[in-house]
Amino acid sequence: MFSIGIITASDKGSRGEREDLSGKAIAEMLTGLGTVDHYVIVPDERAALSQAMIHMADNLRVDLILTTGGTGFGPRDVTPEATLDVIDRQAPGIPEAMRAKSMAVTSRAMLSRAVAGLRARTLIINLPGSPKGVRECLAVVLPALEHGLAIAR
Ligand code: MTE
Repeated sequence: MFSIGIITASDKGSRGEREDLSGKAIAEMLTGLGTVDHYVIVPDERAALSQAMIHMADNLRVDLILTTGGTGFGPRDVTPEATLDVIDRQAPGIPEAMRAKSMAVTSRAMLSRAVAGLRARTLIINLPGSPKGVRECLAVVLPALEHGLAIAR
């Protein structure tokens, strides 16, 4: 079983103005893979998001960080940039697979700028912001995640 952290990127969520259904959707789908030990809602700010990722990876030592939100074209969508700021090695196959499979569901999947990669032994994956997008994208990566995380350890 792996230790998992969830970071929800949301201005409204961080102010308590919106319930975080996407974070919940992630947690529900991960019960077979590990335990969600850490969870935080962060405003859509690059430095705050990178700091949250660094803290979870370096201090809390989770194996996997899943982010939700902030991967589109909105002016405040900066989750991919925050992720690129903190990872050592990219894992492009993961967002490639999510986008490729998601294109069968919605052509808007091409609007996702999500990235994934490793910070030391912690794998970080960006997911879209909507609960539907989260479920669809996680379903794509879940079958390969256990193996990927086992190798990263
Ligand atoms: N991927 C899947 N599987 N399902 C979706 O509904 N939504 C898309 C895309 N990826 C979607 C998806 C949309 S509409 C956008 S704008 C981008 O993800 C980025 O979403 P975000 O800005 O909420 O992170």
